[in-house]
Amino acid sequence: MTPGSPIEESYNRRFDFEVWKKLFGYTRPYRREVLLLIMFAVLTATADALIPLVTRELVDEIVERGSDVRLARYLWAFFGLTTVISVAVWRFIWLAGKIRTHVSHDIRRDGFENLQRLSFSFFDHRPVGWLMARMTSDCERLSNIMAWGILDIFWGTTLMTTIAVAMFLMNARLALVVLAVIPVLAWVSAQFQRRILKSARKVRKTNSRITASINEAIMGVRTTKVFAREQENLADFRGLTTEMFSASVRNALQSALYLPIAVSLGAVAAAVALNLGGLDMAAGTITVGTLMAFMAYTRHFFDPIQEMAHWFAEMQMAQASAERVMGLVEAVPEIQDSPEVRAAIASHRTRTSADPSLAADGGPTGFETIRFDHVDFRYETGDPVLHDLDLEVRAGETIALVGPTGGGKTTLVSLLCRFYEPTKGRVLFDGTDYRERSLSWLQSQLGIVLQTPHLFSGSVAENIRYGRLDASPDAVEQAARLVGAHEFVTGMEHGYQSEVGEGGNRLSTGQKQLISFARAILAQPRILIMDEATSSVDTETERRIQDGVAKVLEGRTSFVIAHRLSTIRSADRILVIDGGKIREQGSHAELLARGGRYHELFIQQSRLDVGRGTTWDEGGPEAWSPGPA
Ligand SMILES: Nc1ncnc2c1ncn2[C@@H]1O[C@H](COP(=O)(O)OP(=O)(O)O)[C@@H](O)[C@H]1O
Ligand SMILES: [Mg+2]
Repeated sequence: MTPGSPIEESYNRRFDFEVWKKLFGYTRPYRREVLLLIMFAVLTATADALIPLVTRELVDEIVERGSDVRLARYLWAFFGLTTVISVAVWRFIWLAGKIRTHVSHDIRRDGFENLQRLSFSFFDHRPVGWLMARMTSDCERLSNIMAWGILDIFWGTTLMTTIAVAMFLMNARLALVVLAVIPVLAWVSAQFQRRILKSARKVRKTNSRITASINEAIMGVRTTKVFAREQENLADFRGLTTEMFSASVRNALQSALYLPIAVSLGAVAAAVALNLGGLDMAAGTITVGTLMAFMAYTRHFFDPIQEMAHWFAEMQMAQASAERVMGLVEAVPEIQDSPEVRAAIASHRTRTSADPSLAADGGPTGFETIRFDHVDFRYETGDPVLHDLDLEVRAGETIALVGPTGGGKTTLVSLLCRFYEPTKGRVLFDGTDYRERSLSWLQSQLGIVLQTPHLFSGSVAENIRYGRLDASPDAVEQAARLVGAHEFVTGMEHGYQSEVGEGGNRLSTGQKQLISFARAILAQPRILIMDEATSSVDTETERRIQDGVAKVLEGRTSFVIAHRLSTIRSADRILVIDGGKIREQGSHAELLARGGRYHELFIQQSRLDVGRGTTWDEGGPEAWSPGPA
């Protein structure tokens, strides 16, 4: 892991009660279960602590009465106590499992809901893998701590208190001797548990890195060979395995040291108690039974300390997990409706005579012009991307954006969609800053098709309907026909009900693209955005999509980022974007006639001169083959 990467764990932080309080708040809906869990934990511990007392009575009675001992009484007492323990253990295992599952589910649900509300910029610094890990392993770990930790803490404290009380009642002096060892034992346990957990985690982490590295080596074996990287890869791999080896050894050593040390400490206490108690017994101040009970208690004391030290270490280690998960659950979207807009929506809703031609935020439903007014933009983590960008688009216009990769085309349309907001300047719809309109209004205007279409597992129909959830089957089919997807869909085994597989993996990229077109079109958006939507399909499919697109674009305002000439050529206006600025604009004919950049790039591509100088993204040669003008 590189330093400063978001997955970095920190171990030595101060314990943060606030975060844990919030996390434990997730057990509140399961108050009843938690109370029962605590009850059963207390019951188990009390029964545990009573057993040596019964033994004591039994031993003393044997000493006193010899063979006259009333065995049945003691048998019943032992039987009763062990039954209580068995039932309680069975119940609390069940309850802890239930709490753990529910809490983990609830945290994930909240995290997921929040992820959906968050702005794009949030995802810029957080890779998908990182988010996945937060929502799965961190959640798992925290809910475990909460369920089993609560259990052990109550079980441990009850057991220790009961034992302490029983010992003091039997013999205060002996009790003090035994209890004197506790602080030492607790300290030693805390030290060791933390180290053991740390090295165990290190082993797990290196292990997963080794797996990833093997995976990569296999997947990228060709590249490795081509670039003669075998030696370097091997060295990296050796480094990882050495790291794993030393972490494993450290872990084994720590575990191997801890147990004997802890047991010895307990034994020292027991020995002192035995010695002093033996003297007392000889002097007749305590009975044999009492001494035996003391010995049993001394041994028992060790378990809860070990368990509690373990959970305390776990919580310390999981502090970072807790912060990250709560960070996700509580992250506030950077882009959301302003208080004014929310007020406008509320007042529009309550107005009985609301004008039906108005949007939910009280503004007009449609628009006549979109204007970028001196827009500057930079991503949170980077250099300025757009500089003083000015652009006015009339409703119904088809705008093609062309230019080199990294020029700012995607950024421009992301700003239009308000995935990001301008750092300076404004985006205006009919003269109104879009920040004064509601996000849902803007979203209702937009249909977006991206280079990598994303489908969800489910049927074809469901995937198209995602564009407008209340669409009828007829409307779904109509949208599919419009984009030219109907033919292949009806050719599938179950037609519109065919499953597309996870992420649409049963379909080709072209088919997925057609479905995502249909989805975008279904909502009848006023603005259609296509960002390199056809760059990953073959020419044949592209031609088919093209026919659909032409129909789809009619009457809509559209922003098309494409390499293929046919789409670009028929656009009302072509913008050449490079270095975050509009360098040229005009129709295909105008730009060619001008003999500027567009012309230059056009010629370049026509000569199939792709490999050198400025290229049109990854557009293949066919993208610029001169067709009928
Ligand atoms: N999410 C992001 N975070 C930081 N920088 C980004 C992000 N997206 C794009 N950029 C940068 O912004 C510039 C413009 O990128 P982009 O708009 O994607 O260009 P294009 O779509 O024309 O290829 C590039 O320098 C790119 O590295
Ligand atoms: Mg792009």
